[in-house]
Amino acid sequence: MTQSTPPTQQSTWDAVDAYFCEQLVGHDPALEAATAAADAAGLPRIAVAPNQGKLLHLLALTQGARRILEVGTLGGYSTIWLARALPADGTLISLELDPRHAEVARGNLARAGLDKVAEVRQGRAADSLAALVEQGEEPFDLVFIDADKPSNPEYFRRALQLTRPGSLIIVDNVVRGGAIADADSIDPAIVATRALHELIAAEPRVTATSVQTVGSKGYDGFTLARVQG
Ligand code: SAH
Ligand code: DHB
Ligand code: MG
Repeated sequence: MTQSTPPTQQSTWDAVDAYFCEQLVGHDPALEAATAAADAAGLPRIAVAPNQGKLLHLLALTQGARRILEVGTLGGYSTIWLARALPADGTLISLELDPRHAEVARGNLARAGLDKVAEVRQGRAADSLAALVEQGEEPFDLVFIDADKPSNPEYFRRALQLTRPGSLIIVDNVVRGGAIADADSIDPAIVATRALHELIAAEPRVTATSVQTVGSKGYDGFTLARVQG
């Protein structure tokens, strides 16, 4: 038997995400408060979806992560999901350029009871990453890259310097409605995310895949790269 044509409409993706979130994510006061605070502060509504946040959480749990690095905090929505996977003595450092975003995120982390494990460092991520390398920071078990897309190759190179064999590096928004397949794109985000794929392909220290996703955030995708032994 053949499958019926797959649903391709945003309204269907929204309905499916609503169903999965109702069944598997549920009512979550800390996350709902974080979204409300981000909206009230006028932050863009570009955080990961609830079921994507839970995917990050599950990946961090599967990693047995004790140390997590995030590049691009926004209001701390993905930060909360990741930090919740840490043990009480775990560490999450999240890097954010915009001081307003950083402030909203700090409030959200405190309300979620995660301010002991999760810290937001305000500044250009490129500078903060260079400082972490310079300081000989202990390796991170998981890195989530989700900031300015033109810097994806630089962030990935830094992530390689800040991880160990077995670490997982995740990059958000690598598909962008399919634009990633356009070799002639002049969109700096696409040019850089294609350069990221070339970098990964030529990098013997990682084994990686990228997957397309649809859902309440539209048509996009993630790259997953495991640092090799
Ligand atoms: N990870 C968040 C969403 C991040 S949105 C979540 O899913 O909940 C991307 C964030 O990257 C924005 O807050 C933006 O201000 C930040 N950003 C953009 N350029 C940056 C830079 N050069 N350094 C650090 N953060 C940056
Ligand atoms: C944008 C950024 C994101 O990190 C995201 O998940 C969705 C959109 C953006 O800059 O448009
Ligand atoms: Mg994103």
